[in-house]
Amino acid sequence: MDIRIDQLTKRFGPQTAVDAITFTVRTGEVLGFLGPNGAGKSTTMKMICGLLAPDRGTIEVGGRSVLDDPGSVRRHIGYLPENNPLYEDMPVLDFLRFTAKVQGVDRGRTDERIREMVDVCGLDPEKHKRIGELSKGYRQRVGLAQAMVHDPEVLILDEPTSGLDPNQIVEIRELIKEVGRAKTVIFSTHILPEVEATCDRILIINKGRIVADGSPEQLRQQAQGKALLRVRIEDGASDAVQKALGVLPGVTLADVVVGAQDRFDLQCEAPDGVAREVFRLCVDRGWTLTELRSMGSSLEDVFRDLTLN
Ligand SMILES: Nc1ncnc2c1ncn2[C@@H]1O[C@H](COP(=O)(O)OP(=O)(O)O)[C@@H](O)[C@H]1O
Ligand SMILES: [Mg+2]
Repeated sequence: MDIRIDQLTKRFGPQTAVDAITFTVRTGEVLGFLGPNGAGKSTTMKMICGLLAPDRGTIEVGGRSVLDDPGSVRRHIGYLPENNPLYEDMPVLDFLRFTAKVQGVDRGRTDERIREMVDVCGLDPEKHKRIGELSKGYRQRVGLAQAMVHDPEVLILDEPTSGLDPNQIVEIRELIKEVGRAKTVIFSTHILPEVEATCDRILIINKGRIVADGSPEQLRQQAQGKALLRVRIEDGASDAVQKALGVLPGVTLADVVVGAQDRFDLQCEAPDGVAREVFRLCVDRGWTLTELRSMGSSLEDVFRDLTLN
């Protein structure tokens, strides 16, 4: 079930929290919605779920407009809100029964769905406890179970791993990957490694605007002029080699690697073309080229560049 968002805009007083964003998510895609705090992630997600009215723009889920037909769209969406508010006093199983009813699960299928959610979300050891007695990791699992109990085609998960310890984060990530295979998933985070590990596609949002959209690989490539090529050239004087590398076509900067006089990092736009130039240079000068590899450019750099202003 595809999600299509066009020119979506939300203002709070004078502030534009979400500013004319447009994107599509396809079935089976896990989209990471990445951005610093206050970027507009939660606001966007609430609008997709029909819980907040946009000022402008359209949202379609499976070809149906969320604005015109919120009731029928909501049946196809599972939502894990930020901070995952839960009924502290309710035992896990009672809570899941209650949410199944709210989400319109057939009474005849409720037991089966709850068993499945307990199983999929690994809730068995804690299922008789009250929610208030659960650890943060288990509360998140209950939140996910709650979001999936009606077997929605679309999952909207707002910071599902926030507040979890590293082991719990890995577990929840695996769970999202697993359930994400057959569903359309958007999940938000302000932590970059999170999306690299889980998502097919990353959307970076900053100050209500989309500033990048692509696979982790594409975003790395988008760091223009930031690609790094590491070369090691033996039997040439370090100064002479550095100078010759620095003036090669496509190289914007040639640095000697600290502590290694025969190694150089070349900043360039298109590392493939530059690699050829480096090889030819070494042949011309009779230098020995013993290392030539693309260091890529870290997503960390891309994210910082796009959101630091
Ligand atoms: N109900 C609200 N009233 C006023 N401002 C809001 C409200 N909800 C969110 N905002 C503001 O909109 C901006 C985006 O918020 P939010 O969508 O929660 O960001 P994120 O989830 O990316 O951290 C923030 O500046 C926030 O303060
Ligand atoms: Mg948020």
